[in-house]
Amino acid sequence: MEHLSITPQGKTPEEITTGVWYPRCFTEYCSEPSSLFRSWWPSVLHHDAAATANGWAFDAARRWEEGKASDKEIRAEYQSKFSEVCAESNRLIRAEREKYIGRNILPEYRREIDRARLKAQEAFDRVQLWTPGGEKPGMIVFGDTGRGKTRAVFHRLAALHREHGTMFLALTADELKRQLIAAALSGEVEDEGCSTESYYCPPSRNPTTVEGKLRAAEIVFVDDLSQTKLTPHYAERLFAIVEHRAARGLPLIVTVQMDGDRLARKLAGYEDQFADTAACLVRRLRDFCQPVNFGFEAPQ
Ligand SMILES: Nc1ncnc2c1ncn2[C@@H]1O[C@H](COP(=O)(O)OP(=O)(O)OP(=O)(O)O)[C@@H](O)[C@H]1O
Ligand SMILES: [Mg+2]
Repeated sequence: MEHLSITPQGKTPEEITTGVWYPRCFTEYCSEPSSLFRSWWPSVLHHDAAATANGWAFDAARRWEEGKASDKEIRAEYQSKFSEVCAESNRLIRAEREKYIGRNILPEYRREIDRARLKAQEAFDRVQLWTPGGEKPGMIVFGDTGRGKTRAVFHRLAALHREHGTMFLALTADELKRQLIAAALSGEVEDEGCSTESYYCPPSRNPTTVEGKLRAAEIVFVDDLSQTKLTPHYAERLFAIVEHRAARGLPLIVTVQMDGDRLARKLAGYEDQFADTAACLVRRLRDFCQPVNFGFEAPQ
């Protein structure tokens, strides 16, 4: 069968293999019979732009098959459609990412950074270099109140989302505690959630429970972890979540206003029954998280 295959110039073989062919694909996922006409598009197109590309490709294929347009004409049309669709896709993706940032980061932490107001510039810059992954995929950001810890973390999370679309689940330890306790009181049953290895999570497998979301999220950010005391249920569930994420190398970021030893004592609330759990939690955070010190006025 005859083909007219067209790709934009300057694409590497790797890019070509990760792209998509419209209107008929020739991949293992597609059992359609081969078409007379194929055009290549990047697989990361925004879904609206992908629909436009697909629509154009079907129309062009029909015209080409019926002899209403020559190879040269279709190729020229494709080049201009390709730039148009990619630009529109980038615009839509950027707009969606800004909306996500607006929904997930409070206005105070979305403000432009004024470096003159940063009290710990070096630590702020270190947080901006953090990437989820590596030997220690988490981050523990510690230091006195008002040093810019929360601001630094949200600035980095926004940048990661803008650049790569990285999703995060951010909440204060107080919200976390209340949500876990409310879930227990309402008899919420644990769901399976997404496979953490899979990038794509079909809606049917989206976790619906608090704990399912905390396990499946790409990045979890718990702000002010040192501001909550352990209770029997909170201690058990918090430990299970940290353990789940640490064991699988899933990034977790926490901010605390004190060093590790004081954190363990603060979490335990000076109650012996929680001392072990608090110490185990702190040990996991130490092993699993890169520390970033925003500094203390008084020695710890
Ligand atoms: N636009 C800005 N750019 C840079 N720094 C700012 C800006 N606006 C305020 N700040 C600084 O941010 C600090 C507060 O930041 P942030 O809330 O992140 O602190 P924190 O370390 O998380 O405090 P806490 O431990 O109490 O939560 C203020 O002390 C202020 O100096
Ligand atoms: Mg803070």
